[in-house]
Amino acid sequence: MNLPTLLATMPKAELHIHIEGSLEPELIFQLAQRNGVALPYASVEELRRAYAFTNLQSFLDIYYAGASVLLREQDFHDMAWAYLQKAAADHVIRTEIFFDPQTHTARGVSMETVIRGLSRACKDAKKLGVDAELILCFLRHLSEEDAFATLEQALPFREHFIGVGLDSSELGHPPEKFARVFAKCRAEGLHLVAHAGEEGPPAYVWSALDVLKVERIDHGVQSAKDPALMKRLADERIPLTVCPLSNLKLCVFPDLQQHNLRELLEAGLCATVNSDDPAYFGGYMNDNFLQTAAAIGLDRQHAYQLARNSFEGSFAEPSAKARYIERLDAAFAAA
Ligand code: ADE
Ligand code: ZN
Repeated sequence: MNLPTLLATMPKAELHIHIEGSLEPELIFQLAQRNGVALPYASVEELRRAYAFTNLQSFLDIYYAGASVLLREQDFHDMAWAYLQKAAADHVIRTEIFFDPQTHTARGVSMETVIRGLSRACKDAKKLGVDAELILCFLRHLSEEDAFATLEQALPFREHFIGVGLDSSELGHPPEKFARVFAKCRAEGLHLVAHAGEEGPPAYVWSALDVLKVERIDHGVQSAKDPALMKRLADERIPLTVCPLSNLKLCVFPDLQQHNLRELLEAGLCATVNSDDPAYFGGYMNDNFLQTAAAIGLDRQHAYQLARNSFEGSFAEPSAKARYIERLDAAFAAA
């Protein structure tokens, strides 16, 4: 079997996908019409033309505007269901989905509406052969007090999410800002992750680990600038959820050929490939794998390691992890 076919068909986990970033322009317009929401763009084409980003913030401004069409439980379900169908087609057998409740509660949409809609889609995903879980993200450009209020609103729905994360504008909003709310989440038994080292410095990766006590780093590509940090990440096998097409579209790397995924893997880090915001960055999981492999020259061993890392880095139960890895091994043995 050739490498592109193997990359596309191997079973894999996605550990870094913002569900609001899976909202395709067509669905944005459909939901805007269904809900009577006015958009500042005349057509799908005009909206798509606005997807020319220069950095993280230039993307976030459009991403939050796109999410304004989500009002009802069914809207959240339909958005997640559209993503889950794409994930299944890409042989994603487990996905841990981020959602940004503050983007919705700030517009008067209830936490219950958001979580019930997303959670129903995740349960339905079993029919697609996908194990789907939710991770609630706090927006780091808002205050820690706002994050505490968000946690309070979400705890009645505790059974519907497995962890919390930290996203939005990284520069100027270090992990330390959220030390207390992450400590509370830890005491609640929630898994912890945080975006760090996407645009921000290695110091933010250190503090995500040491202050927030996260189990995974989202992005983390700037860690390569700090040899001591690289050693720590490798020694402790701390997963990095790398998003190559996102990094390209947000100008973290000037082109995909210069992406450091190979360097991370070859330094022994538990790096994974993920889509981040696929509707905005031009590709879902397999687009990320195929374009990155072609650009940086991945081989069969890299492919196996990336898929294996995705399962090892997931928050699945040990027995489920073992089953996923058995399926991966069988796929490679047959290929
Ligand atoms: N929210 C959605 N995508 C994001 C990213 N790449 N970085 C930070 N926050 C985000
Ligand atoms: Zn992200």
